[in-house]
Amino acid sequence: MNSIDYYEEQYERDRACIEAILDECLTPPQGFEQSKVWQAARYSALGGGKRVRPILLLMTCRIFGDDIPDNAYRFATAIEMIHSYSLIHDDLPSMDNDDYRRGQPSCHKVFGEGIAILAGDLLLNLAFETMLDSIGTMCSEAHRRAMRTVAKSAGGHGMVLGQDLDLSMEDACFSSVTIEDVESMALLKTGSLIAGAIETAGHLCGASDEDLRDLRCAGQHLGLAFQIRDDILDGVELSNHFGKTRHKDERDGKKTFVTVAGREKAIALLSEHTDAAMDAFLRLEHRGKEVGILKELTRRLMERTY
Ligand code: IPE
Ligand code: IPE
Ligand code: MG
Ligand code: MG
Ligand code: MG
Repeated sequence: MNSIDYYEEQYERDRACIEAILDECLTPPQGFEQSKVWQAARYSALGGGKRVRPILLLMTCRIFGDDIPDNAYRFATAIEMIHSYSLIHDDLPSMDNDDYRRGQPSCHKVFGEGIAILAGDLLLNLAFETMLDSIGTMCSEAHRRAMRTVAKSAGGHGMVLGQDLDLSMEDACFSSVTIEDVESMALLKTGSLIAGAIETAGHLCGASDEDLRDLRCAGQHLGLAFQIRDDILDGVELSNHFGKTRHKDERDGKKTFVTVAGREKAIALLSEHTDAAMDAFLRLEHRGKEVGILKELTRRLMERTY
């Protein structure tokens, strides 16, 4: 099988595993099958999405050997639950006020704001329950570090803090916001969870401190490249699969790589951060890790059209 077929087959296999675990974990309690909050959580978490973060976690585990830890799949799915919750809240009228997500009406458009907030809360808590259940009674230092990495990258030191900066900048005038401000905000709101997914894989697989440093570095640059691509895609029509409202950032005064620095500069930064992520993967390769599939994923994310 050539390497492209291998990559695609692996991606689809991982996606199917993650979606099967999501489906299982999102089974409503007996007697509450019609509960709105469970229906809303299922609607958002199972209704599409590229599954980039969990797949990054699984692909990173494989650089340490083909036999990845069993609970890596549960940790990967937990990170996708956290990401799905962050999207539900991100779309709320009090945040980005977005009516469309993953090709369908956003959670609050279908279920109302109150239930959408609760569905986000449900997914965040379910993520930690899912990780804990996968550890069972044998909690090692590696598991503790992995869970702490997920918690820290999603919370007030990571994604939540980045979302705060994103909202705070909305009302600022453009002349007061620099590209460095946008970069710090993007590193937190998007880079944290992406780097967290990659670093979590390292903890689960017992990576050395040197490897962990390079994984974190790759993740942060990949996360920034991912957000730059997202900002670029807001302003262009490249695919029918986009699944989100376009031209929203400019309309809402969002401070993005494109609205603050212009499209050309954003494209240049996208390739800088992609190269820096590739360099970190290369350092791992020089220490004997098979990172081909991660490099392929990085290349594709840089060029993605949705
Ligand atoms: C969207 O993330 C939000 C950002 C951090 C840019 P994704 O582009 O990964 O969204 P889905 O999961 O594929 O819908
Ligand atoms: C990332 O930023 C959002 C999260 C961290 C959840 P955006 O607000 O740009 O994401 P989209 O464009 O709505 O997907
Ligand atoms: Mg947002
Ligand atoms: Mg948004
Ligand atoms: Mg966006």
